[in-house]
Amino acid sequence: MLNNPVLDTIAKRSSIRAYADTPLTCEQLEALKLAVLASPTAVNAQAQRHLFITNPDVLADIEKAVVDKLLASGDQATIDRIAGRNYKVLYDAPLLVIVAIPADGTYYKVDAGIAAQTLALAAKSMGLDSVILGMPAMAFTGEGSEALREKTCFPAGLEYGIGVAIGHRAMDKDPHEYDMAHIIDVK
Ligand SMILES: Cc1cc2nc3c(=O)[nH]c(=O)nc-3n(C[C@H](O)[C@H](O)[C@H](O)COP(=O)(O)O)c2cc1C
Repeated sequence: MLNNPVLDTIAKRSSIRAYADTPLTCEQLEALKLAVLASPTAVNAQAQRHLFITNPDVLADIEKAVVDKLLASGDQATIDRIAGRNYKVLYDAPLLVIVAIPADGTYYKVDAGIAAQTLALAAKSMGLDSVILGMPAMAFTGEGSEALREKTCFPAGLEYGIGVAIGHRAMDKDPHEYDMAHIIDVK
């Protein structure tokens, strides 16, 4: 079977939901910024903006806003899931990257997903770990979102596309299992 460092990184990536209290270095942050900027976008639009949030107070504010909204939502299944995760949404990661995208446009969400996986793989290749985060989106719409948008310097006219929390893992977890039957060969 073929193997190389890229395939190895892809195979080893897994969503990590507990992080050590170790900040990323300037060098690591720089490498992640270059990686996300290298992500492809449809028609090379490059319409996304990437918020690299490392301020602990801002990270705490985002997490609190998500938990508060979830608890108020009445969505019991999600409330139970978040309770099972000790009300952690960002899992103490020292970095949250938010990929902010324009609201309308056929491919902006696809572009954001590609950026997220690029970040996840770049992080893994650097000895870091990550988890892709959709849930924080709720903190950036509706009640209270204006203050949070201001604190995060969220660009006007853009919305939360996807987030990626990145840091040094504080737990072990194997990559998910998968099924070759999900591949359809058309020969
Ligand atoms: C678009 C997207 C949104 C996700 N949102 C969350 C989230 O808000 N919180 C979370 O803990 N994990 C989130 N995940 C992680 C998935 O739960 C995880 O990728 C999945 O369980 C497979 O596990 P793996 O990443 O370890 O392979 C998200 C993943 C994707 C692709």
